[in-house]
Amino acid sequence: MPHSYSEKSVIMAASPSFMKDIQLNTARQKYSETDGDLRLRQAAAVGDLGEVLRLLRSGQCRVDAAQKGTNPETGKPYTARTALHTAAMKDHEAVAVALMSAGWSLFLKDSDGNTPQDYVKSETMKQHLLGAFVAQSVNQGLKSIFNSMQLEQKLPDTAGKPLRVISLACGIAADALALHQLYPDKSIEFVGIDNDDEQIADSKRLCVAMPGVRIVKGDATDLKWLQNNFTSEGKFDLIFLRQPNFFDQKDVFFTIIQDIIPHLMHSESRLFISTYHRIELEFVSLLIEGLYGIPESEGDSSSCTLNEQEGYLTCGVKLTPDRYSALLGAHPELKNQLKAEESPRPRPCEEDVSSMRLA
Ligand SMILES: C[S@@+](CC[C@H](N)C(=O)[O-])C[C@H]1O[C@@H](n2cnc3c(N)ncnc32)[C@H](O)[C@@H]1O
Repeated sequence: MPHSYSEKSVIMAASPSFMKDIQLNTARQKYSETDGDLRLRQAAAVGDLGEVLRLLRSGQCRVDAAQKGTNPETGKPYTARTALHTAAMKDHEAVAVALMSAGWSLFLKDSDGNTPQDYVKSETMKQHLLGAFVAQSVNQGLKSIFNSMQLEQKLPDTAGKPLRVISLACGIAADALALHQLYPDKSIEFVGIDNDDEQIADSKRLCVAMPGVRIVKGDATDLKWLQNNFTSEGKFDLIFLRQPNFFDQKDVFFTIIQDIIPHLMHSESRLFISTYHRIELEFVSLLIEGLYGIPESEGDSSSCTLNEQEGYLTCGVKLTPDRYSALLGAHPELKNQLKAEESPRPRPCEEDVSSMRLA
């Protein structure tokens, strides 16, 4: 049963001309390699990350391209290996993760019946590739949400400048990936903030192929630090707060919502909040209704929807800083209730986040 929140206007982002052709060619091909595909596989074989990134951005390569059929000179079948098979066989981890973030599959079989995963030797690389696989899955879910919300049409007009996006507590920054793949023609400057070393390392690996993406370790509750480092060139057109840990770290995320986000917004900014865990829905619904004054029953065609399958609550509101502050002020009961429910756990950066991993 879908829940919905009517919205006053809306959400979402944009990005560069990277992955355009990849997007257009997601069907698994039966064709033999093109020159671009071949060069990609060769670059992957020698671990030339720079060349791999250049080829991915050029749009000359097709996702999961492999040489199939029979070699007319030898009469033997081609290996049917993708660039990811090759990178995996040669232990070129950075190349393999870049290919995965561009959509290459970890599970396609070559003519020997082996997947890229089967060729991975080191445990660390295995873990990193599985991390990239999780990001791919989250990315698919996000893309379907962004599509169903028609986010592109609802983005603020940036008057020819890049769209400025910040993801607070970004985790593996799957939002950056989804935006780049969905809106390849848009220019985007994306800042992802997280305070966990492993999440930062994972997202840097994943975003290496994406121009305009900065992943920075820091405390998303530290307003001064955020302002000093990120708002001198302007505030953000789009702000993500995805799957915050509302229950375990309510103080952190309430601070982000109340004291941080309003200072990062301008009058046309869009805000996107989602939650992964069903148990958080009631809390988030209350929060959104309290902050934005949007009752749950008020759905219409442009409403925000809770996607049952993905388990996300998506909310799109045009929210000016004034409106935001007014709504906060107008709902002291909500504020009190949330404050009262805060658990006396230590703030992150001290010890809590080290135990958090992707859900
Ligand atoms: C449940 S994860 C969600 C990650 C990501 N937004 C997603 O949807 O995949 C919560 C994230 O918040 C981060 N986090 C918690 N407290 C933070 C803080 N004060 N500053 C920055 N990041 C924080 C954690 O490291 C973790 O990556």
